[in-house]
Formats: sequence, structure tokens, C-alpha cells
Amino acid sequence: MKVVLTTPLYYVNDSPHLGSTYTTIAADAYARYQRLKGHDVIYITGVDEHGQKIERTANNKKLSPQQHCDNISSTYQSLWKKWDITNDRFIRTTSLKHRSIVKQFFKRIKDNGDITIGRQTGWYCVGCEEYKDNPNDEKSPICPIHLKTLEWRDEENLFFKLSNYQEQVEQLLLEPDFINPISRKNEIVNFVKQGLRDFSISRIDLKWGINVPGYPEHTFYVWFDALLGYISALFPDSHEIDLNELNNYGWPASLHLIGKDILRFHAVYWPAMLMSAGFEVPKKLFGHGFLTREGQKMGKSLGNVLDPNELLDTYGSDAIRWYLLKDVKFGSDGDFQKQRVIDIVNNDLSNTIGNLLNRTSSMARKWFNNKIPEYELSESTLILKKKSFQCVETVSRKLEVLDFQSSANAIIELANNANLYLNDNEPWKLIKEKKNYMKVSSDLYSILEVCRFIGILAIPFIPNLSIKILSQLGIDKEIENWDQNLNWGGLVSGNSLPTPIPVMNKLDIT
Ligand code: MSP
Repeated sequence: MKVVLTTPLYYVNDSPHLGSTYTTIAADAYARYQRLKGHDVIYITGVDEHGQKIERTANNKKLSPQQHCDNISSTYQSLWKKWDITNDRFIRTTSLKHRSIVKQFFKRIKDNGDITIGRQTGWYCVGCEEYKDNPNDEKSPICPIHLKTLEWRDEENLFFKLSNYQEQVEQLLLEPDFINPISRKNEIVNFVKQGLRDFSISRIDLKWGINVPGYPEHTFYVWFDALLGYISALFPDSHEIDLNELNNYGWPASLHLIGKDILRFHAVYWPAMLMSAGFEVPKKLFGHGFLTREGQKMGKSLGNVLDPNELLDTYGSDAIRWYLLKDVKFGSDGDFQKQRVIDIVNNDLSNTIGNLLNRTSSMARKWFNNKIPEYELSESTLILKKKSFQCVETVSRKLEVLDFQSSANAIIELANNANLYLNDNEPWKLIKEKKNYMKVSSDLYSILEVCRFIGILAIPFIPNLSIKILSQLGIDKEIENWDQNLNWGGLVSGNSLPTPIPVMNKLDIT
């Protein structure tokens, strides 16, 4: 099965912040999971480089827009490497192939009779790159997201005849699995019910954009251009791009992962554009919540961003990945709190998983000659086996619907069960009598096997730590497929156990 997964294409008006990092980490966990299930994944991320916001930022920095975009775009690419992001594509909307796609797509919808010319008047937020309906103040309205004054616009624009797609969009919204989480669906359904209005897809006051063929004064509106990045990303980097071949390259997208603020663009405008051009609509959207800091949306314009590089240096990629995926229910808003990062990481990764592995392998090394002990099936170890398979089932079922939190909780529950098993069975007492030798051996084998399951199941969340866990069990080959590896008895009795090292040191940050 092919899985085409996308993050939004991030504006390059400033360096990446934790908001965009959050979406990219979540998408990465999902992409890794799908690959481990044996699917053929194309994970797309990238940057949205046109528009007034970026033109103005470049001007302020006394750089050409292209120079500015080159700088920020490479910052994104190197940051994603540091966060262990495994994207297969990185699309830039200033790329040649993208420009070609945008023009070909425009021709298709124009030939379909869905382009008109008209006047656009209204209050515009350059931060959102969006006209705002019902502004809060008639004379000097403010954008509720960016808290900046809106600008009045009155200009000739080309319009996409969204109104032609009222019924088809309504029909699409009836599909139960199109908008996720389900709680976000009503907002979109109500918006569509009010009647779809044609939306402007070009600007005449903007140089930093793709030229509209046949309309020399117009450049494409940044959102029209950016959404098409999902398509351009699928094409090879060649000058001879033929949009007619789109379906051969993996379209439609299986899942667009986005923040809740840009759901309307993805749930209404984008599907209608695709319908007009004669392409399939994406199969699923997921609108996640905002990461807040002291209750306010974290954003470049609000100046309360957390620098992802600083977080990497202080806590490391695995710690923040685990915290974000485990502590914040995906879909809801979450408040980033440093103390919670420390508490959760120390409890889960260092105390619960780290200690389990460390104490079990130390006992095995001490009493079984530095080797993986022998195993004999018994009623008590059968419970651990059952719990491991229950955990595999829960983790998979929950990851399938992007419920990272429940999935992470299931992993910790398995580790807790194994820790309890050790405490209840007290192998350190049993080993004193020779008759218990086989029981202790099987108990330790089973717990090491649980650790192997944990190491494999945690790959989407904490890829580096997973490698360390597995290597402590003597497994150094990369795990590429869950079904082939999540079988009870994968550890080979008699194989050497390496010298123990703590897989996760406690965070000691004040
Ligand atoms: N360029 C558009 C997307 C075009 S997609 C074809 C855009 N870019 S953005 O950089 O402003 O935002 C990208 C994503 O980051 C959005 O999904 C937005 O919701 C998300 N986030 C921005 N700040 C955020 C938080 N504080 N928390 C979580 N996500 C946030 O919109």
C-alpha cells in the first residue's frame, strides 16, 4: 500500500519554531510507523516561499526574496535532520518544477470555466495571508491570531469559482473519515452551509509570486500556489513536467497533517481546486491543536517562540519527541512546560524503561555468564507474552488514528507490568536456590524479550533511544518491519549481552 503523507509547507518568513517542529515530528512518527507496517511511504514536507509576508521580511533584512528564502529553507532542512525527521521529499515553492505545475494546474481550471476576473475588497492579514471576514473593529480591525492591524485592500483579482463546487464539497464532507479529529468537522460544515463564495487566486500588488499566464500584472495568491506544492513534491526534479502524469506519481495524498488554523484551506478550497482540475481529492485531513506557552499560541509574530535548536541542545531530540507525542493529546491544544518535559522524560524513559532494561540485563549478565538466558514457557511468563502482544495491538491501533498519546501510554504500561513482574517474582531471592534456576532464567529472558518489544514499538517516537535499547540486547541490525520482528522468542538464548550503559540519563536541568 502507498501512503502519501504531508506536513504543511512552512512559511519562510522566519526561522522554524516549535510549532512547525511539532507537526513535522508527529508526521515523522506516523511515517515511521507506516514504513514499519511494510507500507510504501512518501513523506512530504517543505516550505512556502512566496507572498507579501516573505517579500516584506526579505526587504527588512535588505536581502533579495530569493536569498532570504534560500537561507531559511536550508535552515529548515538542516533542522529536520537534527530532529531525525525521515522525510522523503522537501518541496520548495520557488523550484522550477513547482512553477510549471502551478501554471499547468491553472490552465486546467481555466479551461474548465472556473476562473473569472473581479474586484476583491476587504480586510487582509499579511501574517495569515488571508482576507478576514467579520473583523472585530470597523475602523482598525486586528487579526485575532497575529494581533496585528489588518490592511484594507481593494484590487482587481482573478477568482476561482468555488461556488460551482458547493454540492460536491458538501458531499465530500459527508464522508465520515475525511476531517479528523471529528470535533473539527462542524466548524467546516457550518462554513460551507453559509454558501461558498468564489475566492481570489491572484494579486496585482505583489511581485514575489509566480506569474499568472495571460495576465501580466498578476501573480498567484500564495495559498493557491502553496497547496499545489503537495503535488509538485511528487514529481521528479526535471524541467519537463507533465501534470497529466500526476496519478502515476502517487496522488491522491493519503493524509494532510495540518494545524487547526489552516483546515478551511485544506477541507474546502483545496478539494474544490482539485475537483475543477479533474484530480482526486486527498483521502484524509488531520487538524492538530496549537502548542501554547502560557496559554498563548506560539508564533513568530507574537515573539513567544521556543527555539527548536535550544531545545535540542538542552534536552535532545528523543526527549522532546517523546514529551510532545506523549503529553499532548494529538488534536487538542497543549501547553509546553519545561518541568513537565523533565518529569515525563525522567519517569518514562529513564526510570521505567531504562531501569527495567538495566536491572534485568545486569542480573542476566551476572547469573547467566553475560548471555541471554534460556527460556521455558510457564504460566507466569505467558502473562508477559500476552501483555506484549496486547501492547503491539494497542500501539498499532492507536498510531493508525494518530493517537500518539494512547500509544505511548501503552508502551509505558507494558514496561510497568514488566517492572512489577520483577518485583513480585524477586529473581534476586530465587537465584539463591538451585531448583529455581530455570524459573529465573525464563523470567529474565521474558523481561528482556519485553524490552525488545518496547525498543521496537518505540521506534516511531524515540528512534535513537530505540537503537540504544536494542543494542543493549545485542541487536544491531536496523528494524525495518514490525510484523517480521514482533514475534515472541526473537532473542536468541546464549547470545552475548553487551556491557550495560544507561540508555537514557536523567535530565538534570534547573
Ligand atoms: N504556509 C502555510 C501553509 C501552507 S500549506 C500548503 C502556513 N505556514 S505556517 O508556517 O504559518 O504554519 C504552518 C503550520 O504550523 C500550520 O499548520 C500551523 O497550524 C502550525 N503552527 C504554527 N504555530 C503553531 C503552534 N504554536 N502550535 C502548533 N502548530 C502551529 O500556514
